[in-house]
Amino acid sequence: MRMAIRFVLPLLLVLGAIAWLAAPLVGGLIERWFRADVEMRSRLVFNSVQETVMDLAQAKSSRQIDRLFRGIAQDERVLALGLCGVDGQLINRSAAWPAVLKCPPQAAQGSAFTVEHLPSGSVLAASFELMAQGESLGRLVILHDLRFIERRSSSAENYLAAFLAFLSLGAAIVTVVVARVTLHGWVRAVRSGFAAPASGLGEGKAVAPEIAPLLNEMRKVMRNLEVPRTLSDAIRVDWGPDSLRSLLRDELPDAEVLVVSNREPYIHNMEDGRVVLQRPASGLVTALEPIMRACGGTWIAHGSGSADTVMVDERDHLPVPPDSPNYTLRRVWLTDEEQDGYYYGLANEGMWPLCHIAFVRPVFRASDWEQYVAVNRKFAAAVVAEAQTPNPVVLVQDYHFALLPQMVREQLPEATIITFWHIPWPNPEMFSICPWKEEILTGLLGSSILGFHTQFHCLNFLESVDRFLACHIDREHSVVRGTEGTTLVRPYPISIEWPPAALATQPPVNQCREDVLKHYGLPAHVRLAVGVERFDYTKGISDRFRAVQSLLEHHPDWIGSFTLLQVAAPTRGRLAAYQITQEEAETLAREINERFGRDGWHPIVLIARHHEPEDVLTLFRAADLCMVSSLHDGMNLVAKEFVAARDDEDGVLVLSTFAGASRELLEALIVNPYDIRAMAEALHSGLSMPPEQRRERMKLMRDLVSEHNIHYWAGRMLLDAARMRKRRAIERQIVHVSAAGGGGHG
Ligand code: F6P
Repeated sequence: MRMAIRFVLPLLLVLGAIAWLAAPLVGGLIERWFRADVEMRSRLVFNSVQETVMDLAQAKSSRQIDRLFRGIAQDERVLALGLCGVDGQLINRSAAWPAVLKCPPQAAQGSAFTVEHLPSGSVLAASFELMAQGESLGRLVILHDLRFIERRSSSAENYLAAFLAFLSLGAAIVTVVVARVTLHGWVRAVRSGFAAPASGLGEGKAVAPEIAPLLNEMRKVMRNLEVPRTLSDAIRVDWGPDSLRSLLRDELPDAEVLVVSNREPYIHNMEDGRVVLQRPASGLVTALEPIMRACGGTWIAHGSGSADTVMVDERDHLPVPPDSPNYTLRRVWLTDEEQDGYYYGLANEGMWPLCHIAFVRPVFRASDWEQYVAVNRKFAAAVVAEAQTPNPVVLVQDYHFALLPQMVREQLPEATIITFWHIPWPNPEMFSICPWKEEILTGLLGSSILGFHTQFHCLNFLESVDRFLACHIDREHSVVRGTEGTTLVRPYPISIEWPPAALATQPPVNQCREDVLKHYGLPAHVRLAVGVERFDYTKGISDRFRAVQSLLEHHPDWIGSFTLLQVAAPTRGRLAAYQITQEEAETLAREINERFGRDGWHPIVLIARHHEPEDVLTLFRAADLCMVSSLHDGMNLVAKEFVAARDDEDGVLVLSTFAGASRELLEALIVNPYDIRAMAEALHSGLSMPPEQRRERMKLMRDLVSEHNIHYWAGRMLLDAARMRKRRAIERQIVHVSAAGGGGHG
């Protein structure tokens, strides 16, 4: 629009001025042409009647002169004729001779033409002298009506003005179209020009000379943006709270960080009339809490503890961590009905089994969906309310908030929304079961960045988008372009704090071992395996117990000298699938213990209660082996925590191939949890592994986790976000420039 005005207005002004100047000239010209024409006609009339008029005048035959005049005046152009005597008196005149008009003043000789402006309009009075034998008999005056000339000249002026108006409009349209096409071409060339170095193509591609300087400038800027990537991809960068803080300061200055998750990092419960602090058994919390401690900001989460309301201020805020606060926890309250529909229903009976291949049928109820939508909206409103700036960095966590990114995007279009999906993403066939698949995909595509643990899950997501939405998918850059914007879909394998904060207070490994064996009444010589998780059917706890049974069946030497200590925090206990999982595992453990147990020794110790992070670390340090046998898992941070706990570089990790962690911890003993016999053999190998081999494997795994720690995870996402924000700023400038220049196609 601005471009159209820019081009059309000057054109219209110039052409209007031309029309204003040219119209009177054209009118005058036309008038002169017609007048010359009328004069010529007057002469013709005079020449043809001159003799007759002279004869009749000499014969003083007034009646015949009138008849003659009447006949001539029938010509439509001739208004009237008159005969003036030598004394200037009007002797004869035809009927239409204007009463106000006298004989025109005597011309010197011959003919004279004058324009008389009468009240009825202008007339041309052509006056011709009648000469007989050198003597004047008077003058014949022929009047022509000139009003037709005025009419024609004013229509000519109107036509000219209309023509110039059309001409200017046409010229403006052509100019605008040509300018748009040219600018569009330039913008495209600039864009592909500065995209080229990233893809390795076309630095040398021919570029229009007029945009080459602009392109070079752009490339320089974009190269500078690539520097942080080089940093993060360097062979070894020690990612920690400081590097994350400086990343935020340098790459995302003034960015406000908001985290949204269902689970809160600190839960306050009322126990025996006292407020007790609990840190939940959640991989998500384990991962994000160190980030928030490093970056500050606000963490928005469901206040689920029985004493949570007591601890917050009037804005539902609480400074945390409780011992040295440096970020804000904003608690959001849910009714029982909301929690049932959104958390237990849609999230944990629908999405959770949908995304995990654990052969538990997903349940989708319309009433749950309604609550899910409503709760997503409630949290989105909390994000908007907490945001102090129009463009915060919002870190959305997990399958509880698939709709929230889009909801926030609608209200904070400038926000950088990074959504991380902590669980696997199913293939499109599986995903198609979900009745609200389009809504979920669309909701997630409100994100600027959407992260999964593995490339495999990213591909599954892109396939699902391809199958169920009409979007453009750029597979080369892993970007989905929808109507609302673009979403970068990338793998960011989540990790843990390195070293874990709780490690500082841990006793030496031998001490831990002694304490744990003593605490659980286990003999000193026993080889100890540990399992730590929530009591979830995806964790393969019963399969692990079956593997222990198979180990004892096939390697009876381990009877009496091996114990699996399984710690499982009850979770989502209101759901039947979870109750069945726990009951089945407890029954199985009892049966195996009854079958193999002797002299106070049991092969399985199952403790179904929550353990605080420090206690879990002690267990890991006490163990010879850690078992992670998830049937399906996004990452599984227990595997990484075990590795982090072992600063003595000892211990064996048995790890399910269906946990994302198996893509990184290649030195673990990788197992298929559905193959009980093979899992038993892995247990046997792990327990029999020579110390040197254990050390080598553990060292390599520790190297990996220490490098790819939680700060690296967050750092990579924030660097991508920073690059994206800078790219957008540049793109906005391009669009602005092209719009200012008239080519606003963006
Ligand atoms: O694996 C997904 C996840 O959100 C984890 O990050 C976390 O360990 C677990 O689910 C927590 O579940 P809940 O919050 O339902 O106890």
